[in-house]
Amino acid sequence: MRQTTVYNPVARALHWGIFALIALEFALAWLMPDVRRGTRPDGLIAWHVGVGTSILLLMVLRLLWRVVAGAPGLLPGPTWQQHLAKLVHGLLYLGLLVLPLLGWANASSRGWSVQLAGLWTLPALAPSGARWAHELGDVHQLLAYGLLGVIGLHVAGALYHAVVERDETMRRMWPRRS
Ligand code: HEM
Ligand code: HEM
Repeated sequence: MRQTTVYNPVARALHWGIFALIALEFALAWLMPDVRRGTRPDGLIAWHVGVGTSILLLMVLRLLWRVVAGAPGLLPGPTWQQHLAKLVHGLLYLGLLVLPLLGWANASSRGWSVQLAGLWTLPALAPSGARWAHELGDVHQLLAYGLLGVIGLHVAGALYHAVVERDETMRRMWPRRS
């Protein structure tokens, strides 16, 4: 396999690191207490906020890195597969930037102080009590489940290439030493 067809080490580290954080983020979302009027952002909720804002930061860095360092071109294959892969990757980028912002705005409307990785206080994205940002809590939840569907499609595509087609797709993101 030619080296130029492989994602660079930074892109790979970000891909798998963000994957692990998203798995953790969904687990936290399901385990944390229901968020209602007056709920305080303690315990698992604080972890959800801290991990979620970290995902946002890493996604911004990942996008910048992709612009600066580039990515290998798509492998040859049916045009519909190439279009679908591009669409799915685009939706994953977009979803993972918008989703944490909605959660952040909703948290601000609840009067919570939102901290990046639980360490640095971020500015409020909405005034405390803002009705519109309160509604974004439901949109955040809906989008999270929509994104889970897109992730499922992405993983199914990756596994299809690895197990059925047995082509180089997986090795571009997880190269094996030869
Ligand atoms: C990629 C990042 C994120 C994912 C995948 C995610 C996922 C989720 C999911 C699945 C729920 C619904 C839980 C349920 O079904 O009960 C939820 C709720 C919530 N999340 Fe996130 N979240 C992310 C980032 C954030 C961030 C950055 C914040 C705040 C700074 C946040 C704040 C909230 C809040 C306040 C709720 C409760 C919303 C409500 O019920 O009105 N989330 N999140
Ligand atoms: C939260 C879960 C995941 C997200 C958000 C995600 C996101 C992405 C994105 C945006 C790309 C495009 C490359 C880039 O520009 O960075 C990509 C590529 C890739 N991902 Fe994932 N991914 C996830 C999980 C997985 C898993 C679990 C697998 C393997 C089972 C996987 C396998 C791949 C492969 C093989 C590529 C390279 C595709 C190609 O060469 O065109 N991903 N992923």
